[in-house]
Amino acid sequence: MQVQRGDMGRYLAVEECYTIYRGDLIQFGTHSLTGLPTRMRTYIFYSDLTASLAGTYDINHGKGLGSGAFGVVNLTVHRIKGTIHAVKTIKADPFNLELPENLRLTHEISAMEALRDHPGICRIEEVFFDIGNITHIVMEYAAGGNLYEYIHANIRNNLSEGDIKAIAYQICSAMEYAHSKGVVHRDLKPENILLTNDKTPVVKITDFGAAEFFGETSVMTDKVGTKLFWAPEILILPSEGYSHLVDCWSMGITLLFMFTTHRNLNAQCLLPSTTLKSNRITREAQVFTADFLHFIPSLRATFTKALSSPWLQSYRRQVLRAVPLGNWNGKALNKENIDPAQRADAIEKGITKIHPNQERE
Ligand SMILES: Nc1ncnc2c1ncn2[C@@H]1O[C@H](COP(=O)(O)OP(=O)(O)OP(=O)(O)O)[C@@H](O)[C@H]1O
Ligand SMILES: [Mg+2]
Repeated sequence: MQVQRGDMGRYLAVEECYTIYRGDLIQFGTHSLTGLPTRMRTYIFYSDLTASLAGTYDINHGKGLGSGAFGVVNLTVHRIKGTIHAVKTIKADPFNLELPENLRLTHEISAMEALRDHPGICRIEEVFFDIGNITHIVMEYAAGGNLYEYIHANIRNNLSEGDIKAIAYQICSAMEYAHSKGVVHRDLKPENILLTNDKTPVVKITDFGAAEFFGETSVMTDKVGTKLFWAPEILILPSEGYSHLVDCWSMGITLLFMFTTHRNLNAQCLLPSTTLKSNRITREAQVFTADFLHFIPSLRATFTKALSSPWLQSYRRQVLRAVPLGNWNGKALNKENIDPAQRADAIEKGITKIHPNQERE
């Protein structure tokens, strides 16, 4: 039996005990002589299956926020607390994993649960399962809409390099966290990057429907996500498959999109340096973008490397200075239980909740 919580997952021997949490994936299977698992059966752990969406939230209240290939998203209000949320309704059943759309939903829920402590990831609140294989994912509401709409709303006066830097920094921070937890998004693009309506918008990455958990034994070969944002190795598909670095390529295309507002993006992907030079942006920003667009994955910038790049360094120092110690995002970090180094690290990574002695395992 294997339990997966964002990071690599863990094999359990017979009679070994382990506490499972909401959203954990549980796999049952046997090992072949090669040591690799044979066909695994996958389940997701979720409690309280009897509650209904309509009982807890006022769904008639809501306007439509968006829709895509698999789901519709509406605004909704909590009946007792009066808080506003977004609810994504998907026709799929995460308890029957024979169909690919069901597995997609299972991964979406599990990835969001694994990453819920980072303010740059759209926070999952709860999930409801309805008759007719309907699943509702209630999450925090990002009132500023998505980055694609934001870029187009600012198309006349182009986003300034400073605006782009503030957004890029937050995406890198959230994606670094996702990769550190073993989650690859595989559909990172402006439509899946939400914003709050603050003056300097706060980024909320969403739509983990194409997400996958990467580990030492898993090989990714499936062509999911959005073609325009695909890394070259997804197209070429070498025998070893591709890695989480496909997200870094998508970040490069997203930056091109922000700097050029989409004009002829296909051609720009092939010639990013020429495109960036003609857009009068600083040399540091050009290098930052081009580093994500390296054809050879091992030479491509990771999100960790990007966060310490010359383009982001001074901004990063400014952000860290602005955050009062012991508090992030309005939530107090527990001073008694957590040592200063751990607290500083959590603040830097934007983690809203840290447990004494780190993980729950
Ligand atoms: N939490 C939210 N707050 C505000 N708007 C949201 C929220 N979630 C989604 N939206 C809006 O709905 C759109 C679609 O959401 P999302 O990307 O999750 O679904 P999708 O593209 O239909 O997903 P899939 O690719 O799984 O079909 C987003 O681009 C955004 O405009
Ligand atoms: Mg989407």
